[in-house]
Amino acid sequence: MVIVKVGMKMRAEWSPAQYLKFEDHRTRPAADLLSRVPGADILSAVDIGCGPGNSTELLTTRFPEAHIVGMDSSGNMIEAARQRLPAAEFETGDIETWDPRTPQQLLFANAVLQWVPNHQRLFPRLMSFVADGGSLAVQMPDNLDEPTHVSMRQAASDARWQERLALADSERAAIETAATYYEILKPHCRRVDIWRTTYFHPLQGLEGIVEWFKSTGLLPYLSRLDRHEKESYLAVYRGLLAEHYAEAPDGTVLLPFPRLFIVATK
Ligand SMILES: C[S@@+](CC[C@H](N)C(=O)[O-])C[C@H]1O[C@@H](n2cnc3c(N)ncnc32)[C@H](O)[C@@H]1O
Repeated sequence: MVIVKVGMKMRAEWSPAQYLKFEDHRTRPAADLLSRVPGADILSAVDIGCGPGNSTELLTTRFPEAHIVGMDSSGNMIEAARQRLPAAEFETGDIETWDPRTPQQLLFANAVLQWVPNHQRLFPRLMSFVADGGSLAVQMPDNLDEPTHVSMRQAASDARWQERLALADSERAAIETAATYYEILKPHCRRVDIWRTTYFHPLQGLEGIVEWFKSTGLLPYLSRLDRHEKESYLAVYRGLLAEHYAEAPDGTVLLPFPRLFIVATK
């Protein structure tokens, strides 16, 4: 795994293959989010944080007439997205500085804005890029207090790597409450639809949980460790997970995964 320096910030390099090991599970919230986006006649949309194009593909299927652009800060993800959808348009960019130049009828952000700080400023800024009648549609994991993530932070406090992992927690900011998003967005919208869903993903043992988060939540930790330390960190992490998640007789572990959804329409 490679660490990429972006200004003062360290960002781990995303792996499309690891991410897509759980493609069905990961794309389901994107489909649920899209099902609540109003309007059949959308002609312009950007999938921000498009990843390997799984969420972009949903947009191209629902709006075949639209000009759809996928954007992402990861070159690996953009490359995978281009291979998946050769007819669609993709670009690299950073949401913190990105500007679509023309107002869009849909900004779709599935499982990405949790990686971008300062939502008090970010959400009104994204809304300013939405055309009248259009929508900003957002889904973010709401799992920082789940044992999966508490255990990541606990494992990071091990003296062997505590100093190097001190900044890992801050790569993903805590999201705001539903009431705060409503307050931020309402002055800019005629309708703000917010809901929260907990999915229960049947995974193959505790190792399934580790594999799931290797491509997302564990990235800020693992990318700061060498190969041997990674194995040691994951051994500590597995031990902590075992205190919270029970394997069924067939080896399955049910992973509860809460997510917050927002569709804000101008
Ligand atoms: C969990 S994936 C989501 C992929 C896809 N949208 C989906 O629905 O499965 C998050 C993506 O956000 C991208 N990302 C993270 N921070 C970003 C930023 N500041 N600007 C643009 N993309 C970013 C990552 O490179 C990664 O591809």
